[in-house]
Amino acid sequence: MTTGSEFPIEVSSRIRRLPPYLFGQLNKMKMEKRRQGVDIIDLGMGNPTDPPPRAVIEKLCEVVQDPRVHGYSQSIGIPHLRREVARLYERQFGVTVDPETEVIATIGSKEGFSHMCLALISPGDTAIVGDPYFPIHVYGVALAGGNVINVPLGNDQAFLRRIAYVVEHLYPKPKLLILNYPHNPTAMTVDDVSFFEQVVQLARKEKIMVIHDFAYGRTAFDGYKPPSFLQATGAKDVGVEFCTMSKPYNMAGWRIGFCVGNREMIKALATIKGYYDYGIFTAVQVASIVAMRNGEADVAHQSEIYQKRRDIVVEGLRKIGWEVESPRASMFVWAKVSDQHLAGQGTIDFCLRLMDEAEVAIAPGRAFGENGEKCVRIAIVENEQRLRQAIRNIDGALNKGIKAPTATKLKRKAGKE
Ligand SMILES: Cc1ncc(COP(=O)(O)O)c(C=O)c1O
Repeated sequence: MTTGSEFPIEVSSRIRRLPPYLFGQLNKMKMEKRRQGVDIIDLGMGNPTDPPPRAVIEKLCEVVQDPRVHGYSQSIGIPHLRREVARLYERQFGVTVDPETEVIATIGSKEGFSHMCLALISPGDTAIVGDPYFPIHVYGVALAGGNVINVPLGNDQAFLRRIAYVVEHLYPKPKLLILNYPHNPTAMTVDDVSFFEQVVQLARKEKIMVIHDFAYGRTAFDGYKPPSFLQATGAKDVGVEFCTMSKPYNMAGWRIGFCVGNREMIKALATIKGYYDYGIFTAVQVASIVAMRNGEADVAHQSEIYQKRRDIVVEGLRKIGWEVESPRASMFVWAKVSDQHLAGQGTIDFCLRLMDEAEVAIAPGRAFGENGEKCVRIAIVENEQRLRQAIRNIDGALNKGIKAPTATKLKRKAGKE
């Protein structure tokens, strides 16, 4: 691939073998609309819009004043931070981890996951990922030179059977199994730790490493408590879990997360990170300690906010004739689009149409894998009033042929109506 200029810039095979980026057209339209002054209700990305806890911001401001914190930090995270993560695992999940060898800080779980793939996957190795998937679970493996086997996601027992079948019949055997519960994009969950117990047994038998992405482990509703992979007996022998400050504490822009579990895997990640980065800004690490130590009520409050928004979106969509399940965790509502509304189009075109006519951005299921087609993902990241407006706009555009207010206004102004 070249840039088209005289001088041939040839990008690496690593970039060339990446699957196409399916959000491109939608992002372009969103930017174009915004340039025109259209107020898009953006439910496209799981990007929290609520603020982090007050005390965390105050701690950041306080630590920033200290002249000693502005140098490079420790790539694996400062000891106090890793100790706080270990305390949180003990308190929340009854899991004991050694903060020295079984915990590492990452620049968000996305960075940690990608570098873990680089640390574990050699060119030609294979990883199993459920489909639909969170894109980095596929791109991280691809960037490391590995191959992805997509196994259709389903209820947990059916999914496990499919994984076992693939492992038994594939040669060479897959090296890595990537899991994510509560799941993005489908919001699927597992009932309890027994699912992970079975995963550990399979992983041990077949000698497959496991990565569990637990980004939504603390965003749950109706009394449901997502189990940690590390609660399963022997989980630390076979795998690790990634968690993040982004979702429970609304610290997505701060870029901080963790990887916890198998010490050999953590050591491999630490080696890669030692070459690539100098660690997260110390002030962010110190403020994160405060978040984890004192932020229990804030995390619970944030889940309550999402639960109310979930109810508005689920009830609203049902009222306008959509079939939707009410999720018990995550920041997403995953909804099937009726054939009538799809009108022979794929979900990317459907979402482009919604952005144009309803001024609502949502994510097309196809962008999360072949099995996502016919579904869309709605991130419940805007406030209740805007979510209600979004449903009204969708209803107007799809069922009543009414364009959203700004679209109509702009067209009128341009003399088109
Ligand atoms: C399943 C999942 N994993 C990881 C991430 C990335 O989180 P972080 O901000 O910790 O990199 C996200 C963000 O949306 C996610 O949905």
